[in-house]
Amino acid sequence: MGKKIFSGVQPTGNLHLGNFLGAIKNFVKLNNDDNNECIFCVVDLHSITIPQNPKELKKNIHNTVATFLACGIDPKKSIIFNQSQVSAHSEASWILSCVARIGWLNRMTQFKEKAGKDKEKASIGLYSYPILMAADILLYDTTHVPVGNDQKQHLELCRDIAQKFNNDFNMKDFFKEPEPLIQKEFSRIMSLKDGLKKMSKSEPSDQSRINLNDNESQIVTKIKKAKTDPLPLPSTIKELEKRPEAKNLLGIFSSLSGQTLEKSVNEFSGKNFSKFKENLSQLLVDKIVPISSEIKKLLNDKNFLEDVLLNGCGKADAIASKKLKKIHEIVGF
Ligand code: AMP
Ligand code: TRP
Repeated sequence: MGKKIFSGVQPTGNLHLGNFLGAIKNFVKLNNDDNNECIFCVVDLHSITIPQNPKELKKNIHNTVATFLACGIDPKKSIIFNQSQVSAHSEASWILSCVARIGWLNRMTQFKEKAGKDKEKASIGLYSYPILMAADILLYDTTHVPVGNDQKQHLELCRDIAQKFNNDFNMKDFFKEPEPLIQKEFSRIMSLKDGLKKMSKSEPSDQSRINLNDNESQIVTKIKKAKTDPLPLPSTIKELEKRPEAKNLLGIFSSLSGQTLEKSVNEFSGKNFSKFKENLSQLLVDKIVPISSEIKKLLNDKNFLEDVLLNGCGKADAIASKKLKKIHEIVGF
């Protein structure tokens, strides 16, 4: 049987190699299997849990759609839309926030990381973020959610919410419990500046990430400057455990080239970083520059991008509002 796929990406800046290897590459594969029904959402409601500049936000929504398309998601096969335009997401989120327990949310590590030291000053939205994410997923009877490793805990919470709602209202199987689709390897791409930190849009230094709209010279410079250690590349995977930067760069090489980490380790065993970096740069340029050129082309046609969203919103709304109506009946509205 085909899968019902839902995933979301925040329009908070340029999408980067971590988004691509951790999530979007998988979106494209799922989109290409005709048995699947795929929905890819630009989660603009999630993005305002941290203050956004309104003009930038609009640009970033277009940028995210352009990136989806440039990576190979086909709007004729998959629904692409932005969350704020389908009001069922906010409405279902409220109802589910009356089902979710504070104790569950208190365990969310992403909130702790994002809120930092001064939790009192974080927005309520940042705290309840995973409930909105559960609403996104449950409204579409999603069976599988392709995400990077960092979203695993949110998916578990979503399953808990689904279970509790079904139990509380004695509605067995009303909400389907979705399975995460997390790649076994390379599901967490790290910063080019620090092999222990996640590659992220919110990291101030642009040198820490390869953006999907970087040009050739930006990619080459970033790889040249990427942090390494003084030793030559190791001959076993085990030695990588104590060498986070080497592990990350070899992981990126393997994931992009579609070969095992073991094969990459053997290929570069004993070589200097400078030699390996030449190969890595070339591979990145070959894979990323075509995407980057396509993003730039698509961004020149805002009407087309708006059409894609409008069309997607219509289709998403038809599904989500039907489910919301049933939720209302169950709850007693
Ligand atoms: P976000 O940019 O936080 O909206 O994330 C969009 C998708 O990319 C999610 O599925 C994340 O799990 C995934 N993702 C974000 N950063 C990384 C990373 N550094 N490595 C792997 N996956 C990532
Ligand atoms: N929280 C996800 C992230 O930051 C984005 C997201 C929102 C999402 N809603 C979702 C992912 C639903 C999967 C399914 O990466």
